[in-house]
Amino acid sequence: MRTSKGKIAVLLSGRGSNFEAMYKNSLADDSNFKIALVISNKKKAKGLETAISLSIPALYIRPRDYSSKEEYEKHLITILKENNIELICLAGFMRVISPVLIKEYSGKITNIHPSLLPSFPGLDAQKQALDAGVKISGCTVHFVDEGVDSGPVIMQAEVKVKADDSEESLSARILKEEHRIYSEVVRLFFLEKLIIDDGKVKILT
Ligand code: GRF
Repeated sequence: MRTSKGKIAVLLSGRGSNFEAMYKNSLADDSNFKIALVISNKKKAKGLETAISLSIPALYIRPRDYSSKEEYEKHLITILKENNIELICLAGFMRVISPVLIKEYSGKITNIHPSLLPSFPGLDAQKQALDAGVKISGCTVHFVDEGVDSGPVIMQAEVKVKADDSEESLSARILKEEHRIYSEVVRLFFLEKLIIDDGKVKILT
């Protein structure tokens, strides 16, 4: 069993509440991971400001400075390697990742999505759930593949939809669960308990 903490990079574009929850959980005595780097593609992302205020290494890397998505990701890879990152956690990162990054970090990129995938991938997942009239929604942490919100599901949490829910009220209850399960997935990853077998994730007990 490893003795050092697993190093993660959180990639975000906005608010960063999942990043903050992971950071808080990483401070627990029995935590097995640390947030070694935060990267944002948006200069004004609140999550970036939070990381800076917490003295976590944080970078704004502007896509427009690169000739293509692939060149952008090659630069990300250089930085991730320099920082010995072992797991990349997408948390509200509003860019589809290309094969360049996925191949380099195969099985080592996770994402969180506010629905029970494969239902309601893409944008406005909570609104999609309300519009569809489902009675149960929730959130999913999954490994990232080349599609949008389509990689192997690692963990899900369900949230009941109330008759009078608005997008805001449902999103808030889902977010609470997101904050819980994302850190749990990271913990299991570094305990080497997540196995991808035939496109499905097995959690070793
Ligand atoms: C979350 O709802 C997450 O599921 C989705 O984007 C949102 C990010 O929120 N991918 P935050 O930036 O972590 O607060």
